[in-house]
Amino acid sequence: MEQPADTVLVIDFGAQYAQLIARRVREAHVYSEIVPHTATVAEILAKKPKAVILSGGPSSVYAEGAPNVGAELFRAGVPTLGICYGFQAMARALGGVVDQTGGREYGRTSLEVTDTGSTLFRGSHADQPVWMSHGDAVVAAPAGFRVTGTTAKTPVAAFEDDQNRLYGVQHHPEVMHSQFGQLLLENFLYRGAGITPNWTTGNIVDEQVAAIREQVGTKRAICGLSGGVDSAVAAAIVQKAIGVQLTCVFVDHGLLRKGEAEQVEKDFVAATGVQLKVVDAEERFLSALAGVSDPEEKRKIIGREFIRVFEQAEREIVAESADAGEPVKFLVQGTLYPDVVESGGGTGTANIKSHHNVGGLPEDLQFELIEPLRKLFKDEVRQVGRELGLPEAIVGRQPFPGPGLGIRIVGEVTKDRLDLLREADAIAREELTAAGLDNEIWQCPVVLLADVRSVGVQGDGRTYGHPIVLRPVSSEDAMTADWSRLPYEVLAQISTRITNEVADVNRVVLDVTSKPPGTIEWE
Ligand code: XMP
Repeated sequence: MEQPADTVLVIDFGAQYAQLIARRVREAHVYSEIVPHTATVAEILAKKPKAVILSGGPSSVYAEGAPNVGAELFRAGVPTLGICYGFQAMARALGGVVDQTGGREYGRTSLEVTDTGSTLFRGSHADQPVWMSHGDAVVAAPAGFRVTGTTAKTPVAAFEDDQNRLYGVQHHPEVMHSQFGQLLLENFLYRGAGITPNWTTGNIVDEQVAAIREQVGTKRAICGLSGGVDSAVAAAIVQKAIGVQLTCVFVDHGLLRKGEAEQVEKDFVAATGVQLKVVDAEERFLSALAGVSDPEEKRKIIGREFIRVFEQAEREIVAESADAGEPVKFLVQGTLYPDVVESGGGTGTANIKSHHNVGGLPEDLQFELIEPLRKLFKDEVRQVGRELGLPEAIVGRQPFPGPGLGIRIVGEVTKDRLDLLREADAIAREELTAAGLDNEIWQCPVVLLADVRSVGVQGDGRTYGHPIVLRPVSSEDAMTADWSRLPYEVLAQISTRITNEVADVNRVVLDVTSKPPGTIEWE
């Protein structure tokens, strides 16, 4: 895909912040992409960026093997903003002094801005809370730079060179806790780099529709719908591009939550007009899962069965089509930008996490891939889904694992247990929505401890029932998470309803573990 004309490149020095910076730039309506720090200056300039942002990084500029930035980048005439490590690397490359001052700053710090009329700080306050995370500090700015910010422990916490359009800050403007962070990024983009903010997710849809039409021609494509946001939005874009040349396959494995299969089968089809083949494979999955308690084993079984059912569906689609016998050429997948960045993005960075696709389809399925969301972050995918008219119940859905409720039952998966968990989960979701908390939490797994029983008392009798675990978490990307501090009244209401309305459950417990050390899911 062509890169938009006004592209900002975020150079990733290895901390988690690069993705966040890229998202914030896009929130400022400027298109951004991430490149690894191993890219050469020539490679960076070949992409003709309108501006460059150097991200933070984990290391000291003096550490052995610390990523280096050649001074050529700063002499190329491209407006550049250095952040944290990027700021120090810029200072050092241009002749400033970076020192081990011994004054580490972590977390919230007060930044004193010496010129609130400067390019970066215009419109913000002289004294502002910012988020810091560094040991080394810049103690002397390079020649030609004006120091515009200091903190108690960092003499040079921000510098600006309007003539060469080079800027740097020690703090992390991309982090929510930096009060004027977004303003600073926008000041850099609009004033420092002179970029006009005109990028929206709408541009991506138009661009993708044209590209997909060209790629597919008159051939056919198929897409596995999982019930989640990504595959739904990917399918909707492809449907917009090629209409009846696309067939979606929905494998109902019986491990979905209450109402989700209906949402795909009715609401999604009504909103998009997509051709859908539904395969009711509940019995097949449940018999394959019978007697299995080990989480990894369950995942393997579910993955294997999924592939078999999907392949069978593809054969049927081929057999039933007007041009019977002509194989389906394209497979649509809802791969997102973080998956692309984290699996190296074809740019030669380390594989942090091998990207798992929608249904875990094997490579020997002979399809060419269509991945219309490869450039988008999750929140942008939701936005695109709304623009395409998808129902809020699908677009606003929280992440849900491919193996579904199969990995939220600790113990063997049976139909009865699934039904019980579906009821408990539906109550929790209903109450969280009613309390207006959907946007506060990243996701809230509801887990059935099927192998645990405890004593309770209900009515006049003693019970011996199962506990349900609530696992509400807040997160930016699911790599790390914290347990959500939900209001007690909401927890009480969920607990009361689940224990009253769901037979065989006599306790509701709250998981108060962050990730790490816990994972989000229990299995
Ligand atoms: P964990 O449990 O690893 O979960 O902290 C991180 C995120 O990934 C989801 N998850 C999965 N998604 N297949 C999936 O498609 C899986 O096997 C799987 N396991 C966990 C989880 O819901 C969370 O959003």
